[in-house]
Amino acid sequence: MGYDSIITELLRIEDAGLYRKLRRVESDQGPTLRLDGREVINFSSNNYLGLANHPSLCKAAKEAIDRYGCGSGASRLISGNMSLHEELESKIAELKGTEAALVFNSGFQANTGILSTLVGEGDVVLSDALNHASIIDGCRLSRAKVVVYGHCDIDQLERSLRDAPSNARKLIVTESLFSMDGDEAPLADIVNLAEKHGAMVMVDEAHATGVYEPSGAGLVAKLGLGDRVPIQMGTLGKALGGFGAYVAGSKALRELLINRCRSFIFTTSLPPAVMAMGMAAIDLVMREPERRQALWNNCEGLRAGLKELGYSLGGSQSQILPLMVGDATACMRLSEKLLDRRIFAQGIRPPTVPAGTSRLRITLMATHRPEHIDQALRVFKEVAQEMKVDDRR
Ligand SMILES: Cc1ncc(COP(=O)(O)O)c(C=O)c1O
Repeated sequence: MGYDSIITELLRIEDAGLYRKLRRVESDQGPTLRLDGREVINFSSNNYLGLANHPSLCKAAKEAIDRYGCGSGASRLISGNMSLHEELESKIAELKGTEAALVFNSGFQANTGILSTLVGEGDVVLSDALNHASIIDGCRLSRAKVVVYGHCDIDQLERSLRDAPSNARKLIVTESLFSMDGDEAPLADIVNLAEKHGAMVMVDEAHATGVYEPSGAGLVAKLGLGDRVPIQMGTLGKALGGFGAYVAGSKALRELLINRCRSFIFTTSLPPAVMAMGMAAIDLVMREPERRQALWNNCEGLRAGLKELGYSLGGSQSQILPLMVGDATACMRLSEKLLDRRIFAQGIRPPTVPAGTSRLRITLMATHRPEHIDQALRVFKEVAQEMKVDDRR
């Protein structure tokens, strides 16, 4: 792309109301932030349990640096497989109740790598219409035939499974808790269908890991489906407060990925501090259910208040509350107005969400205090009603 075509592309993005700018955080990642020079209450973070700045994670990271240094030096298959990587993987397998786990450098790399390892030309992937970009790209990379079924539409999924060639390998992939809508996939139905039609199931627990009872393992575990979902992916950078990602499943799955998964093989492994903070986070998640309780209490408080103000919040069942606006420009204007009054609720536009469904993605943290929620509700009442936002569709 020459310079002129770069400018033309930028103008096109701007004209469509889709221009994105980076905001700058000048504090730690708490329920309040210093954002672009002003103090705001943060309703835009995936740090759901407030662990990103927890003293135990900071201490573990510092100790790991003192003992092992900063970098890992190479990819896992060369000289970058440190004892810490394997210790973290054992801990993840313990949390998830699986035989094994494998750590990835990010959720994006995990999804693209796992999907393109497990299916290929001649196979069929069945993917929920609202799956994350990393799943979409993983499906594309795999060269399998991709069948997108309607969001959580079990009947359509069954029809698609029936239509797939009987000799094709089939893989169903879904998020468990959807990142932009906050609703839960019908996992029990999906698993039943997969078993009936001989398909594999891969579940992305990026937003569910750490959040669901009984142990923070995710929605698959909460529903008692652990033994029936062979590929459970999740991240360490959201509720677990650190960075990186994992897949949990059988030892055979782990071995296959070590041997074949390009996004695992051809990249420098995560550094010691990141492994150490992952382990510290899992310890807290397993030991302190009160964090989850605080998160769910905060969800209930904000959800009830916003509903009282007349917002439907779609089908959200979780810490992710979508307040639908529809038009991308109107959505960003609303987000800015809220920010002027120190409430940070990021507007989300296409291509992150489908056209016409731009929304504020409001997220809760265990560490929000009642006064944060009260203040948000006061501001929503003033600003959102003044702008006549209607999310009741
Ligand atoms: C559902 C889902 N999967 C995967 C990812 C990617 O994870 P990471 O941020 O670790 O790359 C995200 C996060 O952005 C996500 O929301």
